[in-house]
Amino acid sequence: MAEELIFSPQASRETRYTEVLPQIEAVIEGETDLIANLANIAAILKEAFGFFWVGFYRRIGNELILGPFQGPLACTRIAIGKGVCGASAQRRATVLVPNVHEFPGHIACSSLSKSEIVVPLVKDNETLLILDVDSDQYNDFSDVDVRYLEQLMTLIQSHLY
Ligand code: SME
Repeated sequence: MAEELIFSPQASRETRYTEVLPQIEAVIEGETDLIANLANIAAILKEAFGFFWVGFYRRIGNELILGPFQGPLACTRIAIGKGVCGASAQRRATVLVPNVHEFPGHIACSSLSKSEIVVPLVKDNETLLILDVDSDQYNDFSDVDVRYLEQLMTLIQSHLY
């Protein structure tokens, strides 16, 4: 396993995704423990992209429960259907929110969060895990983030679920 993340700090976000995703795969190929892997993935995404908040929630029953993350203190439990995370889990689809203040029911864990993307991991028609990324800038996420973060969740599913 690589012990140091290698990426081009000045490169486009797309380039950095293409640099970082194979290194994430190498990390999770060498370890079977889910929490250890999610913790390293959150750390890698924080280091490569400097996201304000990045982390995971596992679906347990009718709730999402906070998992490994990087960033400020966060809400520990979110009901399915509530907030951006709960909406993504319920719809079993990626939700991209350019301005969180315009998303009905957005849960403000931090008042600094301005845009957000949530990507679910869906297996047998059920959401099992979500990845949440928050930015302190409006309109910070695009189709590029959707494409590569969905690839990341597919990678996690094929190795860990
Ligand atoms: N804003 C999210 C809650 C999770 S935190 O941002 C880490 C939401 O509306 O679901």
